[in-house]
Amino acid sequence: MNNFEFVNPVKVIFGKGSISRLEAQLPEQARVLVVYGGGSIKKNGVYNQVTAALKNFEYAEFGGIEANPQYATCMRAVELVKEKNIDYLIAVGGGSVIDATKFIAAASLFDGEPWDILAKKATVKKALPIGVVLTLSATGSETNERAVISRAETAEKLMFMTPEVFPRFAVLDPEVTYSLPVRQVANGVVDSFIHVVEQYLTYPVNAKVQDYFAEGLMKTIVEEGPKALSNPADYAVRANLMWAASNALNGWIGCGVPQDWSSHRMGYALTVRFGLDHAQTLAVLLPGVLTYFRKEKEARLVRTGEILFGISEGTVEEKARKTIDEIELFFREMGLKTRLSEYGIKEADIDALVEPLKRMDWKLGEYGKIDWQVAKEIMLSRI
Ligand code: NZQ
Ligand code: ZN
Repeated sequence: MNNFEFVNPVKVIFGKGSISRLEAQLPEQARVLVVYGGGSIKKNGVYNQVTAALKNFEYAEFGGIEANPQYATCMRAVELVKEKNIDYLIAVGGGSVIDATKFIAAASLFDGEPWDILAKKATVKKALPIGVVLTLSATGSETNERAVISRAETAEKLMFMTPEVFPRFAVLDPEVTYSLPVRQVANGVVDSFIHVVEQYLTYPVNAKVQDYFAEGLMKTIVEEGPKALSNPADYAVRANLMWAASNALNGWIGCGVPQDWSSHRMGYALTVRFGLDHAQTLAVLLPGVLTYFRKEKEARLVRTGEILFGISEGTVEEKARKTIDEIELFFREMGLKTRLSEYGIKEADIDALVEPLKRMDWKLGEYGKIDWQVAKEIMLSRI
């Protein structure tokens, strides 16, 4: 196992009715901004639960955070923070709202051009405190220090990480996910599964605790994911998926192990250029990455196949290939497409997709082998 430092200070408040415990998490006299998305929280009762819990506080609202949150929208919220003297942010939503809130929290106290936090990795010295009410389990953003922000004018989607934006607390009530559209349920299952894969399916370094934990998460997601589609109001299923998604990207399973975030990094380009949902990009690209690096990832592929899909027959190569096929089948079972052509994306589109990767000064994958040319080959293999 490699050396590591690990911190995760997020307090999790989990279970039915847990939004009512929001009030007790906030400092007295907090001047709160409630940040939310396109309005789903007003239809499913979450907004009412949140405002009821805030009845003793002074609060303002900022709605309209879009999926794949935009820099310009976040900066409008920063203006409101300054105008109203806000000192506490509450994100009510999925990954997009939480990520936007993290950026708003950092940008509000940033000295200089806030885009530099993303584009130049400028140091975030402080940020406003954040609380989260999660409505979509997928990204793990509720328990981590990452955020991904897009900028339409420059066709960019960039990530930043800083401990300053760890939420102080995250309220996870699985019941609020019942109102999710099927597409978002499926996206959440696939995204969280791939978060585990990208921290596990590299090469073994004898990190037993992380490995067994990662395997348990993958098994949970593969078992429960399809049930969330066939039986959407099953509390136990939603609860298991919600907790799995948080643990998939709260830093725990990634401690001291090699990681391969190439599907994520390449996927951002697909979202920016063609508007695919985050998980849709991953379902297409991951099988390509696994196939391209089948030999390098062979030991892990064989073990994954055995644990998740009971694959025990055949040569090592056959078992590894079968595992990749089964993973792709799982995505399809969840209703996601796994080929670019299914989204109308053609060979002629690929050059433009790899363009942003040419500007990167580092290479992707656990061996750092994926430059823009390899990315192009992988994308072409997914047409
Ligand atoms: O905007 P509203 O009206 O709330 O509707 C949202 C949105 O349309 C809807 N929704 C959310 N909760 C709902 C609901 N609809 C009905 N009932 C509910 N309970 O779902 C739609 C999608 O929401 P969004 O937040 O965009 O989805 P997700 O959680 O998948 O977040 C995706 C974003 O997170 C980033 C992605 O790149 C993307 O920008 N990621 C963030 C990560 C992180 N911070 O750690 C890691 C991830 O890998 C990912 O990159
Ligand atoms: Zn993701």
